[in-house]
Amino acid sequence: MRDRKLVLVMVGLPARGKTHLARKLARYLSWLGHRARVFNVGSYRRARLGPAQPASFFDPDNAEGRAARSLVAEEAIEDMLEWLAGDGVVAIYDATNTARRQRELVSSRCASADVDLVFVESICDDRSVIEDNIRGTKLMSPDYEGVEPEAAADDFRARIGHYERIYEPVADDEGSYIKLIDLGDKLVAHRIEGYLPSRLVSFLLSTHVTHCAVWLTRHGESLYNLASRIGGNPDLSTRGEGYARALAKFLPERAEQPPLVWTSTLKRAIQTARHLPWEQHQIRALDEIHAGVCEGLTYSQIERQMPDEFNARARDKLRYRYPRGESYEDVIQRLEPIIIALERRKQPVLVVGHNAVIRSLYAYFMDWPPEVCPHLDVPLHTLIELSPTAYGCEERRFALEPDF
Ligand code: F6P
Repeated sequence: MRDRKLVLVMVGLPARGKTHLARKLARYLSWLGHRARVFNVGSYRRARLGPAQPASFFDPDNAEGRAARSLVAEEAIEDMLEWLAGDGVVAIYDATNTARRQRELVSSRCASADVDLVFVESICDDRSVIEDNIRGTKLMSPDYEGVEPEAAADDFRARIGHYERIYEPVADDEGSYIKLIDLGDKLVAHRIEGYLPSRLVSFLLSTHVTHCAVWLTRHGESLYNLASRIGGNPDLSTRGEGYARALAKFLPERAEQPPLVWTSTLKRAIQTARHLPWEQHQIRALDEIHAGVCEGLTYSQIERQMPDEFNARARDKLRYRYPRGESYEDVIQRLEPIIIALERRKQPVLVVGHNAVIRSLYAYFMDWPPEVCPHLDVPLHTLIELSPTAYGCEERRFALEPDF
């Protein structure tokens, strides 16, 4: 059975983190293999009308502004439904949708297209959070390019004021909704049914804004790496042991506070983390892709002994499942609880894993489509530092020389 098509309609006053949430939802869904896309009405407005509308454009009493905004909203809805009629699965309609009549318009269009709809409303009255959002993201928007920051902030506050006059929170009789209060401190879910919406509730329960680093690394070189054999449970080579020591020198100097340390349950990952001065947790979900009947073989042995398997994997590395083993899609599914835990944490974290596992986690943070994930470049003896920002992640890589 194919997935039901779904529209997530963002709701909330400006500067409540809707666009951040919309992108995060899209990234999570795409990573899990569901075609997801954000339709941001602000981008349609800027494309049609140019970026520099003053706050008065958003005044509900400004008939001209209202008409222009309705037109761009219509255009975004049209595009969104057309995309869903094709191969799209989850569309995220990112606009304020603060007035009930705006939401009724999207609702009725989705109902005619036989598409499910869930409102995702962000409610926040904490002035300091709103001010941070105005200064941290809104002033960088193309809407305020070249405008002096104080004037831009005043204009944006006036824009918020216009929306406040017409804001009606989503009511129970409007259908399914998820309300995030104070950026996820509290969550209210109403009439949430079906597989994907339920999964989104648990994802949203865990998300909060964190800027703490995530460090990702493969284990140090193993005896199997030296012999070009895959899988298994080998020890580190001498060079691999040198990487473990280099990591234990480098990271304590780099980390501003002690990170959580998560390793797989395999010897090469545990040995890589063992010199670090922090508590370590071994997690089976971080074990390397299981190569089934191919465990312990080299790629050339697989090519010679099982050419059909070798070619099938080369054709579709994402979906190919080793006989009695796993595919990348399987690995991504089993890593989902790790993503939830990574989203929930309030500390930096170091994950010591393996090629396929680190590729999959890295693909989530850097928003790579699933098809690209199995081909990402994640070399040995390289520590990847990811620093989450409002709209994604900044990346640095440190190639560490083994310390003998
Ligand atoms: O070669 C090291 C390794 O971790 C193997 O154990 C694993 O099967 C492989 O990398 C995964 O990489 P790929 O998906 O490119 O074969």
